[in-house]
Amino acid sequence: MLKKIEELERQAKETIKAATDPKALDDLKIRYLGKRGEITAILRSMGQQPEDMKPLIGQKANELKDQLEGLIEQKRQELEELHRAQKWEEEKLDVTLPGTPFLVGRKHPITTVMEELKDIFIGLGFQVAEGPEVEWDYYSFEALNIPVEHPARDMQDSFYITSKILLRPHTSPVQVRVMEEKQPELPVRIIAPGKVFRRDDDATHSPMFHQIEGLAVDRGITFAHLKGTLQVFAREMFGEQQNIRLRPSYFPFTEPSAEVDISCVMCEGEGCRTCEHTGWLEILGAGMVHPNVLKISGYDPAEVTGFAFGMGIERIAMLKYGIDDIRLFYVNDHRMLSQF
Ligand code: PHE
Repeated sequence: MLKKIEELERQAKETIKAATDPKALDDLKIRYLGKRGEITAILRSMGQQPEDMKPLIGQKANELKDQLEGLIEQKRQELEELHRAQKWEEEKLDVTLPGTPFLVGRKHPITTVMEELKDIFIGLGFQVAEGPEVEWDYYSFEALNIPVEHPARDMQDSFYITSKILLRPHTSPVQVRVMEEKQPELPVRIIAPGKVFRRDDDATHSPMFHQIEGLAVDRGITFAHLKGTLQVFAREMFGEQQNIRLRPSYFPFTEPSAEVDISCVMCEGEGCRTCEHTGWLEILGAGMVHPNVLKISGYDPAEVTGFAFGMGIERIAMLKYGIDDIRLFYVNDHRMLSQF
């Protein structure tokens, strides 16, 4: 029996030492010291032991019991200590580590180009005007000399909210709103930057994009003033070497109308893929304000004349920065945006 106790002692000490979590210790406690535990069994069997051995066996078994209880408790504390240390290691704050870098925001390239455009035209004596993005059919088309059912409406297929209200397909409605408000005062000299919307969606067209409109109305405004203004704009925006070219075109709200090209910014007029080997890039529409538009806005076309132009900001930004897909402006990818 004494041998058995010794064996038990050896085995118990080993398993306690090897325990790796509190649950294992609980199990060991039950195994040796529980109601049906191995040491408990020895203590219960005292009646069957030889008389002369009883004191010694009793003493040894009780000693072992106390010893194991102590060892288990000690091991439990060790494990707790270890657990605490591990947790500390995991959670501790190392103030010497480099911090997570903050991404510093910057202006969107569309905003930058918009501001440059504003600067150029403000420098030429224009003032900034604004109009609503959700606009009446009247200002978007009718007052711009595009009657209901007129095929020219197809040039700007927009998003309708009701049959009379739509997302403006261009910034031209601001021309009429400004003239209505200012008439009969002269001169009118405004630019109107803002968002516009069209049912278009590909690498060079987006359903939402930006335009800037220009309008000058006064006595004696001629086509030469328009051309001079646009020439200055092209040089300020794209460089001193810039030339512009005007081609006859059609807009219902200007007469005569022109499509305006700048010499290709990629090849400087040599001819390349961007300009389709013409040496020119179309960047805006312009013309002399149609007499019907002046009249409906409250000015007398016999007395005053005006010019107007409208251009897409994205187009300018794409040419200026060499961006070939308009969608890149809207995906908020800082790898792209941080280049400008
Ligand atoms: N509104 C025209 C467009 O969006 C551009 C334009 C503006 C043309 C002013 C002439 C005069 O295409």
